[in-house]
Amino acid sequence: MRYFKRYMVTSALPYANGPLHIGHLAGAYLSADIFVRYLRMMGKDVAFICGSDEHGAAITIKALKENVSPQEVVDQYHALFEKTFQEMGISFDIYHRTSSELHHQTSQEFFNNLYQKGEFIEKESEQYYDPKAQQFLADRYITGTCPKCSNPAAYGDQCEKCGSSLSPTDLINPKSTLSGEKPVLKTTKHWYLPLDNYESWLKKWIETGDLDGKHLHDPEDWKNHVLGQCKSWLEGGLQPRAMTRDLEWGVDVPHHIPGHEGKKLYVWMDAPIGYISATKQWAKDKGKNWKKYWQDDDTSLIHFIGKDNIVFHCLIFPAILKAHGGYILPVNVPANQFMNLEGNKISTSRNWAVWVHEYLSEMPGKQDELRYVLIKNMPEQKDSEFTWKGYQDAVNNELVNNLANFVNRVVVLTHKYYQGKIPKFDEDQDIIGVEGDLESSFHEAEILRLFDQMDEWCSYIKNYDFRGALKILMDISSQGNQILQFNEPWKTFKEDPEKVKTVMNLAAQYVYVIGVLCRPFMPFTSDKIARLLNVSFEKEDKLLLNLMNKMSEGKLPLKSGHVISQPEHIFSRIEDVAIQAQIDKLSKSLQAQQTQDASAGQSLTPIKSSISYEDFSKLDLRTGTIVSAEKIEKSDKLLKLTVDIGVEIRTVVSGIAQQFDAQNIIGKKVVLLANLAPRTMRGVTSEGMILMAEGTDQKLSFVYAEDANSNGSTIQ
Ligand code: MF3
Ligand code: ZN
Repeated sequence: MRYFKRYMVTSALPYANGPLHIGHLAGAYLSADIFVRYLRMMGKDVAFICGSDEHGAAITIKALKENVSPQEVVDQYHALFEKTFQEMGISFDIYHRTSSELHHQTSQEFFNNLYQKGEFIEKESEQYYDPKAQQFLADRYITGTCPKCSNPAAYGDQCEKCGSSLSPTDLINPKSTLSGEKPVLKTTKHWYLPLDNYESWLKKWIETGDLDGKHLHDPEDWKNHVLGQCKSWLEGGLQPRAMTRDLEWGVDVPHHIPGHEGKKLYVWMDAPIGYISATKQWAKDKGKNWKKYWQDDDTSLIHFIGKDNIVFHCLIFPAILKAHGGYILPVNVPANQFMNLEGNKISTSRNWAVWVHEYLSEMPGKQDELRYVLIKNMPEQKDSEFTWKGYQDAVNNELVNNLANFVNRVVVLTHKYYQGKIPKFDEDQDIIGVEGDLESSFHEAEILRLFDQMDEWCSYIKNYDFRGALKILMDISSQGNQILQFNEPWKTFKEDPEKVKTVMNLAAQYVYVIGVLCRPFMPFTSDKIARLLNVSFEKEDKLLLNLMNKMSEGKLPLKSGHVISQPEHIFSRIEDVAIQAQIDKLSKSLQAQQTQDASAGQSLTPIKSSISYEDFSKLDLRTGTIVSAEKIEKSDKLLKLTVDIGVEIRTVVSGIAQQFDAQNIIGKKVVLLANLAPRTMRGVTSEGMILMAEGTDQKLSFVYAEDANSNGSTIQ
């Protein structure tokens, strides 16, 4: 890896149209915060930039719905974001906003630069126009029926039910959300960036890291899924993309450009430039030179984003920067995939989310618990899952039982035996280390091993493998516990006081190391540990660098005789009631959504979170025929069926009696899930499950394989 003098780290600017949920945190903010805090602890020059994305249809639609101005919407969410990020310990150097004057200027300068150089092509196209509201309609302003799944409430850019991406003219029965009228196609002119001309340049840059005789990055350092997405966009061929829109809210096309009237910059042109304008503001406030951070080859630019933003950060924004000239390109774009919640995709519009500001007020003081669980399940390489039960287990079993327990034991025992003074460390004592007996070889064995682990921890962070780094931290804490467990100071204190001093000294050094290494993940806990040890980690700058330098010389961070503070618990157990309350809250929002869907005449179930091919291949599905059927006594729902699946005859209990009479279904062709674990209902053991399709009207129908004429065909 190359050496860089300074780092410019950005997190995707969130749309200021709704609160932040855990998926946002896990996607682009916690990851960046970990990385930045690590860089600061290593004494690097780093600027961590973010702000609110306040333009685009996402904002104006929200304003329209709530009958307020777009400015009111963004003011409200900008303030909420700033507060939420700060309370969660996301340590931006600046949290700016794209409605600021400085941003408007900066993005207009960019646009003008490209315009003057002739980088744009002007093109006319037909777009939907609302004659009643007298305006062109952004894709999101048009709704209609999805051509793929018939959802009557699909948007012009996407159907949220089936997830297909659409263009407005794909919709059946399009309607303007402004007036409810049918929109008409009308000609309009826009400035396009001919991305097709950048295709080979982008391909070379991404795939080799080489450009203009310089080696800018190693493609092997990029995540597979990021490279994969870039390659598939490039293979599909890039098209010219309009950099302007007919809108009322956004950054004006500079007024000296002929035809600027009514035109605004495309939100994906202005938003990434928001990173630059935010840097300018930060530099102004802090007396820095912003150009060093964006135009100097010695700067490493890193964008933390979610996977839906990959094309914009890896292809479109780099093309814009290239068209302008003089700017550096990202050295890496460590995008994360998505985090699902309790088995379903997180959805703002369906209120299926854990909202961060609500978490903060319902679980006060538990920021680090949430950070820990989100990092532990961070969707670094593939989609991941958050569940409240998983949250509870991780906090209770890992943070409380392992980490808090170790720190607390060390502080309590140090007070009990030594009045809170770190005892003396004696190299000649034989203590039992993590890997067994240590005979006066403390430096090589214990400290060097710990040092190696710290080194390994650094490599994980440098590789954007934050889950791996977190695991090392927890391993170190387990080892601290083991050292106490093996040496049993509570038993040997009387007979071998000198040995116990050394054990307790070593344990306290472990606590110090844990306090430093947990800082990027759990900054509040790091502060608590510093308070307990009566030291300060506040000056993050070089904290880890100094510690590692010290340890590499065999020196220890805590001196004997140093007085620590009174014990205090750093984590407490999460009780079942708190978890149940969160689960109930989610099921309420699910019910509310179902009622709403039903009254809107749509009861299409949302798509479940994705599974792997391995998951799918575990299902043993076979064709069969129902050979007998009878009602199960004292049950109005259940039928007892026997099904011939070629290899054997199975007995199956099926809950379809309300819609089917036993005698009418004998001879029906079916599909059976043949390896479902047997289950006994009303005294009958069911050896499989018949697949049924349930319509929006709750009507059931049998699923069968059309041309399969023998029983026992496998389905894959
Ligand atoms: N607002 C966008 C989103 O939430 C992200 C914008 S990132 C930036 O998906 F680069 F454009 F700033
Ligand atoms: Zn659809």
